[in-house]
Amino acid sequence: MQDVTTLAFMRLIARRSPPDFFVTEYFRVYANARLDPHILRSITENDTGRPIYAQLIGESIPDCCRIIGDLHGYGIAGIDLNLGCPAPRVYRKQVGGGLLREPETVDRLLGSLRDAIPTRFTVKMRLGFEDTRHFAALLGLLAKHRVDQVTIHGRTVRDRYQGQVQYGLIGEAVARLSCPVLVNGDVTSAVQAVAVRRQTGAAGVMIGRGAVRNPWIFGQIRHVLAGSDPEPVPLSAVNTYIRELYGAIARPGTSERNHVNALKKYLNFIGLGLDADGAFLRQVRQVQTQTQLWQVCDQFLTGDRILPWQPSSSSVVTSSLISA
Ligand SMILES: Cc1cc2nc3c(=O)[nH]c(=O)nc-3n(C[C@H](O)[C@H](O)[C@H](O)COP(=O)(O)O)c2cc1C
Repeated sequence: MQDVTTLAFMRLIARRSPPDFFVTEYFRVYANARLDPHILRSITENDTGRPIYAQLIGESIPDCCRIIGDLHGYGIAGIDLNLGCPAPRVYRKQVGGGLLREPETVDRLLGSLRDAIPTRFTVKMRLGFEDTRHFAALLGLLAKHRVDQVTIHGRTVRDRYQGQVQYGLIGEAVARLSCPVLVNGDVTSAVQAVAVRRQTGAAGVMIGRGAVRNPWIFGQIRHVLAGSDPEPVPLSAVNTYIRELYGAIARPGTSERNHVNALKKYLNFIGLGLDADGAFLRQVRQVQTQTQLWQVCDQFLTGDRILPWQPSSSSVVTSSLISA
């Protein structure tokens, strides 16, 4: 996830419960683009013990092939092509989710990338751009170009993060494709992850925001798969996680106020459903200093209470990474 799954963040997740693999933030591919050193670090210094895929976003075949060449030798598990980003500034350039409007372009891109990628080639996509009219054709292209794995966020680009995830269509992709399909979208608890995987027949579940809120979720999923109850997480552990996260995202020269604001991006996910009426999130959005931040955390995240299994359904929809 862009600006979220940094090396420091992946380390925090891995210490609590590592997913089976990680995916980098996307490398933006354009004429003369070079590998972003900050993202590259998450590959070269990856000490999580888990494989990492490098994600690319772009549409220029020569530039994508050049960047794939540049990534050679860096020990990635494979290359993941982003066909889902819904940010207007991205899709207007006909990259990310914008490409889902043009199956012919996707056809050429997948064919060339398949030839250029010596390792695993995976795709992250949505159901379509404004509707699902090209979904079946896009699945056909994934099969034609022997993509090794696809992750499907069960929404269109126009849906952004709103509305119901269409797990039924992901189930259709599972039935149609011979490669592993990972289901993605609004999975926020271990029990739900296992249920959604069963419902769709998917090979696995990719979890983004739910893992930011609950970095213990991958271990909890393993418990549920083994037939046990997921381990509850005390809110005091969430308090520790937030403090570690604050340290992890520190950048030299950043003011205290900007540092606190940078943490709020994560707190918007972590705070969902922490208390019944959303007071933690309301208060934490107001803080400007580290001292104020710790005061709010200590007020809400102490004692024997445990992290609720799921944020309330309304909070998932109104909120604005990673995988299992
Ligand atoms: C802040 C943010 C950044 C994201 N960045 C990326 C990205 O760089 N690449 C990508 O494939 N998906 C990205 N996504 C989408 C997620 O991977 C995922 O598909 C989406 O959030 C739905 O899954 P979730 O409900 O488990 O979060 C991003 C999502 C968010 C909220």
